[in-house]
Amino acid sequence: MSDDIVLDEFGYDEPTLDKLFETLKKEVISSSENYSQEAFKLHWLGRKQGRLKVLSEAWLKSAPPEARKPLGIRFNQLKQQIEAALEAPATTTRAAQAGASIDITLPGTTRAPGIPHPLLKTMQEIVAVFHHLGYSTNLGPQVESDFYNFEALNFPPNHPARDTQDTLVIASQQSRPSRDRLLMRTHTSPVQIRTMIDQPPPVRIVIPGKVHRNDAADATHSPIFHQVEGLCVDTNITFSDLKGTLDHAMKALFGSAVKTRFFPSFFPFTEPSADVQISCIFCNGKGCRKCKHSGWIELLGCGMVDPAVFAAIDEQRAAQGKSPAYNPEKITGFAFGMGVERIAMIQHGISDIGHFYSGDMRFLEQFA
Ligand code: DAH
Repeated sequence: MSDDIVLDEFGYDEPTLDKLFETLKKEVISSSENYSQEAFKLHWLGRKQGRLKVLSEAWLKSAPPEARKPLGIRFNQLKQQIEAALEAPATTTRAAQAGASIDITLPGTTRAPGIPHPLLKTMQEIVAVFHHLGYSTNLGPQVESDFYNFEALNFPPNHPARDTQDTLVIASQQSRPSRDRLLMRTHTSPVQIRTMIDQPPPVRIVIPGKVHRNDAADATHSPIFHQVEGLCVDTNITFSDLKGTLDHAMKALFGSAVKTRFFPSFFPFTEPSADVQISCIFCNGKGCRKCKHSGWIELLGCGMVDPAVFAAIDEQRAAQGKSPAYNPEKITGFAFGMGVERIAMIQHGISDIGHFYSGDMRFLEQFA
């Protein structure tokens, strides 16, 4: 901005003043758009070096006596324009307030609307499959106690999963009873416990969320990842309900041609437990590099809720003054848990889990 507007060269006639103050008004507008509010205020209204003060003093001093009054009026108007620009909240509004015209025929500033992250998208797809079967969603905390993450899920005290090798624990809790010690949840299963303590059967819920493990990152592992857990508890729930439900879910996610098979497995909180495999979607089960030439891809864990879990629930319900509701003679259920990253990687043929977290637009834009 120039400080070189000198009146003597022009005289004090109205047309000259009109022109000069029009120039100053434009300067107010453009500086209100380009300066921060503080910088703008200092520039124009600064008590010692402010442009308003410097100009008005210089010009009034050199003006002939009869020109001082109209000149003073003009400076007052200019001050009002500066103050109006200062009071308006946004820079563009400040400019408008000071008298700039806004051309509404110009195209607006376009903003890319963004898309759901591919992991979120897959998580929502999984959840939606179960919503259609009448399940609702429950969430739980990521900082969890040993009781919910392990003890109530029937993990024995020295189970390897409790080792700090596998679990990220919150520091300085040695003085607490072991069940109250806090850790980052290693799976979404603790929300099964929270839900059943909260409500009697029937229960049909899915639990999407972040989980944490003390794992080094590599192409298929990340210390933070996502799971979707499921729990269905009622009278007369059987292993065939479990098989039918998961077979349906896998077909809904990967296409109706997909086959499922169930392998005996072990989880402390289910009995019997199973691993679910789907026929390889890359080679239709013929055998390829992706399925290590077996024709099958392992996808999730599941099983019938262990009676020891129901016992822990009713014990806790009693401690909270709630009536027992999970008598394993009458109530049965199944549970399952799957990794969202793994499913998204298979869906999209992604070979490195790190892509999900890199924030690289070249990767993310492929899902737009
Ligand atoms: N919580 C298990 C894990 O993190 C996954 C799992 C397996 C969940 C079997 C279940 C289940 O609900 O029944 O690896």
